[in-house]
Amino acid sequence: MTPFESSRQLFPRGFTIIGTGRLGSSLALRLNSKGYLIRSLYNRTLDSCERIATQTNTDIFGTFPSRPADLGDVVFLCLPDDQIGAFAKKMGPVKDGPAWVHTSGATPAGVLEPLSPEGSGIAAMHPVQTFTIKNRDSAFNQCFVTLQGDPVLCDKLKKVVEAIGGRPLLVDSRQKIAIHLAAVYVCNYMAPLFAASQDILRDNGLEVRSRDLFGPMVRQAVEGLLSHPPAEVLTGPVVRGDTGTIDRHLKVLEDSPKWDRLYRELGRVTLELAQKIEARDRSADPGMMERFGSQ
Ligand SMILES: NC(=O)c1ccc[n+]([C@@H]2O[C@H](COP(=O)([O-])OP(=O)(O)OC[C@H]3O[C@@H](n4cnc5c(N)ncnc54)[C@H](OP(=O)(O)O)[C@@H]3O)[C@@H](O)[C@H]2O)c1
Repeated sequence: MTPFESSRQLFPRGFTIIGTGRLGSSLALRLNSKGYLIRSLYNRTLDSCERIATQTNTDIFGTFPSRPADLGDVVFLCLPDDQIGAFAKKMGPVKDGPAWVHTSGATPAGVLEPLSPEGSGIAAMHPVQTFTIKNRDSAFNQCFVTLQGDPVLCDKLKKVVEAIGGRPLLVDSRQKIAIHLAAVYVCNYMAPLFAASQDILRDNGLEVRSRDLFGPMVRQAVEGLLSHPPAEVLTGPVVRGDTGTIDRHLKVLEDSPKWDRLYRELGRVTLELAQKIEARDRSADPGMMERFGSQ
């Protein structure tokens, strides 16, 4: 039996999605395209909800689920993080109700306890991916989807995740927030690094865009990082022990205390990483560490 066939048997009444924004609409369309029943859809404003209902042949849609009979076996709450708890309190426990699942990465499943005070039938299902209206078709392919909460429910959801092309990963509540935090380093913190790069170019009379100037090099670096451990693809003055180059960089940064601080901080952790490389000349390391400053 395929994951789809067995999970359809587990969820014969299909799914309800509340919040038809970026993720909710992608999830509804993906579930529907794989053959699952979308029983009902709800959203604060009707426009997006009605549009997705048409695309998924869903007759029941509205702004709030007032009839428990309209709900599927699982209700996915694809709401902004700080709306999930408020919704759970407003809805309250539903007798013989569905399973409740939210999709936030930073929020534990426990926020849904007002819907199930004993904690059964609640979970968090977080696709580790960015959803936009442009990548609806492909976003679930091969993406990890963390599952946390009621173990029986998570086990059933595993099959659904597999059937829509994702890779399920069972986690506890601490691991869940750790994954969210770890993502910040590799995704969000790239943006301030690009901002630093652009400021330095501008402050030195260069009108060229950082993303244009360094695009080919950045692509190469990211490719390397996506296929090798970080220490193996490290290049630049720190790993080479070029203290003279670091002195010249620090001179340019004299009028940019914010980027100087970041340069030294990242320099220190880059050096620690470089020190893991065997058969590397370490003679310049103490001088470099002195320049970066100890913590
Ligand atoms: N987008 C992603 O890349 C992504 C990835 C992984 C996880 N997530 C998680 O998925 C959840 C949704 O994120 P999103 O990016 O899809 O957000 P979004 O695009 O802002 O969509 C949220 C939707 O919820 C609706 N809504 C807000 N409050 C509501 C309420 N009280 N009742 C009913 N509907 C309500 C909004 O309606 P209106 O149209 O009226 O504003 C909107 O359509 C979040 O927990 C987020 O952390 C998102």
